[in-house]
Amino acid sequence: MAQLFPPYANTIATASLFVAAGVPFVLLVGGTQVTSSPANTKVDNPLDQPVPFSHKHHNRELGIDCRFCHSNVEDNAQASVPSTEVCMTCHSQIWTNSPMLDPVRQSWETGTPIQWNKVNSVPDFVYFDHGMHITRGVNCNTCHGPVQDMPITWKGQAFRMSWCLDCHRNPEKFLVEPVGGDKKTPKEQVFMLYRKVAEGRPLNEAEQALAEGLPSQIPQDDTHLELGKKLVKDRKINVQQLSDCYICHH
Ligand code: HEC
Ligand code: HEC
Ligand code: HEC
Ligand code: HEC
Ligand code: HEC
Repeated sequence: MAQLFPPYANTIATASLFVAAGVPFVLLVGGTQVTSSPANTKVDNPLDQPVPFSHKHHNRELGIDCRFCHSNVEDNAQASVPSTEVCMTCHSQIWTNSPMLDPVRQSWETGTPIQWNKVNSVPDFVYFDHGMHITRGVNCNTCHGPVQDMPITWKGQAFRMSWCLDCHRNPEKFLVEPVGGDKKTPKEQVFMLYRKVAEGRPLNEAEQALAEGLPSQIPQDDTHLELGKKLVKDRKINVQQLSDCYICHH
């Protein structure tokens, strides 16, 4: 299945311009309108979907790269779920009689997108940007749990403000550099972790914590923190501004 790894562009996304000065910071919060679990789905509870799509099958077992299906995640603010066409690149030929795939075939024939239920979200007054995190080497599992092991997708984190700030104040605690292979860009290291898992290669303690979607279990010894600080510097992460309100509320 090696040919399924997409021919991703080698260019690193040019960091999105962030205009801070002059942008009024208006936070519209009407106490009761704010739910602390935005998507109203529970952490660690698989969410019912029109098709029982399994990341475990497609990612860990078949080794399909995240970007084959979430093609804009590394460059854009928003990730998106794949169109039916992406499923049909394979399922027009394999498992063509599976009843589980009926809704996929129907969607294909009628041109009506599959109505996937949203697992993760933050409230509208919170700004989030995927590309900014992926290009700095923040692994998907830090925020989404052990995706490559999910038979049905669940929410990995509640996305509370204090949780986002934990990392924004001390990113060195959470940055991990998956070892092995060629010298990789931070972005490529994110996806290399999944490749190692799919190939059953041994993982060190920090990689293992990420694979399990448990960023709080990344070892915090001197060796790790020193590496973390080096990564913050190499990746030109501007820690000073990262906990300013306007970063996430603008
Ligand atoms: C073969 C296609 C495919 C691949 C490969 C794939 N995904 Fe997905 N992903 C989907 C589909 C379809 C959904 C929507 C259904 C669901 O939530 O399970 C989804 C949903 C998600 C969601 C939840 C979206 C929401 O509603 O909040 C996350 C997070 C996610 N994927 C992360 C990943 C990561 C990380 C990888 C790589 C390790 C990956 N995906 C690989 C197809 C794929
Ligand atoms: C790169 C090829 C490929 C793509 C793309 C792909 N699949 Fe699959 N899918 C497979 C293969 C191979 C199997 C059989 C897995 C097995 O049981 O070993 C499978 C199995 C399935 C199954 C049933 C097996 C199970 O128990 O999980 C469902 C449902 C499914 N795929 C849904 C989807 C959906 C929805 C998409 C699009 C978001 C998709 N697939 C995209 C290759 C693919
Ligand atoms: C720093 C935390 C973080 C990282 C790292 C991260 N995500 Fe997300 N992801 C989020 C948040 C927060 C949301 C909800 C965003 C919103 O509501 O707009 C989300 C939403 C999503 C969605 C749902 C998009 C939709 O259209 O419904 C998908 C799919 C997804 N992420 C995939 C990924 C993949 C794949 C990766 C790794 C390549 C990744 N994410 C890395 C925090 C993260
Ligand atoms: C594990 C670490 C980590 C977590 C968790 C995390 N972030 Fe970040 N975030 C970063 C890093 C690193 C950057 C890149 C900053 C830089 O390069 O200067 C970033 C950048 C951002 C930016 C863009 C800042 C800019 O300059 O434009 C936004 C917005 C953001 N994060 C929001 C969030 C939100 C909201 C959450 C929680 C849902 C979150 N982040 C969780 C590490 C993290
Ligand atoms: C790294 C991103 C990030 C930064 C920086 C940030 N926030 Fe938030 N904020 C969030 C997220 C995510 C939520 C929604 C989840 C929640 O309520 O915990 C939120 C919610 C809020 C709420 C809603 C109240 C509530 O508890 O439901 C207020 C008010 C708020 N933020 C104010 C601020 C102020 C003031 C600052 C600067 C001191 C700030 N935020 C900095 C991410 C951030």
